[in-house]
Amino acid sequence: MNEKATYIVMLGPPGAGKGTQAKIIAEELGLVHVSTGDLFRENLSNETELGKLAASFMTKGELVPDDVTIAMVEERLGREDCQKGAVLDGFPRTPAQAEALAALLERFGGQVDLVPFIKVPNETLIERLSGRWMSKSGRVYHALYNPPKVRWIDDVDGTELYQREDDKPETVAHRIDVYYEQTSPLIEYYLSDGILVEIDGTQEIDKVTEDILKVAKA
Ligand code: AP5
Repeated sequence: MNEKATYIVMLGPPGAGKGTQAKIIAEELGLVHVSTGDLFRENLSNETELGKLAASFMTKGELVPDDVTIAMVEERLGREDCQKGAVLDGFPRTPAQAEALAALLERFGGQVDLVPFIKVPNETLIERLSGRWMSKSGRVYHALYNPPKVRWIDDVDGTELYQREDDKPETVAHRIDVYYEQTSPLIEYYLSDGILVEIDGTQEIDKVTEDILKVAKA
């Protein structure tokens, strides 16, 4: 008999550390890290129609329409490597996406098992996003809090790091507003399911990981 798959949803505002933690947690638990932001950016660098469409929303700090995003996640979670489950980062982001995810996982015989909600105040989010450096393969650094060994160079493959287009101060402010308007209702949604756990995201990266793993392994 197949072991039941595990699905973890990382929830929190832009810059809370969802991507940073999702990568570590997925590796630690033998799950796949599925980031909708990374999937859109991958499509953009491959110049697909989906990438072009997504970019028209992402550069403004707006959400990509639900139907497009849901279809992309459905395809990704249906792949072979997700059989044991996934750590979802950046999805769901609206109540409609949360409903679609629940229906999809039910079809797979699973459910959302845990929602670590990484809580960080707005001033810290802005500081984190303005100092974030990314590698083309999606590794995340911070100029001060998580610097690479050599400035602007990826530790793993030696390629040059870059700053995300949507990390400009005016876009960041709008992304935070969009989060409060469209995504924060999911806190109540998952709280009422009894699967949301609040995590203090202002701590050092290792400590945040420790707190998430404690609840994930409980
Ligand atoms: P996405 O890529 O998902 O961006 P986001 O949710 O805005 O989140 P971020 O990636 O900005 O932050 P994060 O929480 O992952 O923080 P990180 O770990 O990098 O989405 C981008 C866009 O795509 C959206 O705006 C939208 O247009 C579109 N999109 C994506 N999903 C969608 C969906 N479901 N529906 C519709 N549209 C969608 O950390 C940030 C920085 O802080 C890093 O530099 C890191 O090193 C540092 N850091 C992390 N943790 C700590 C710590 N504990 N202490 C100090 N520094 C830390």
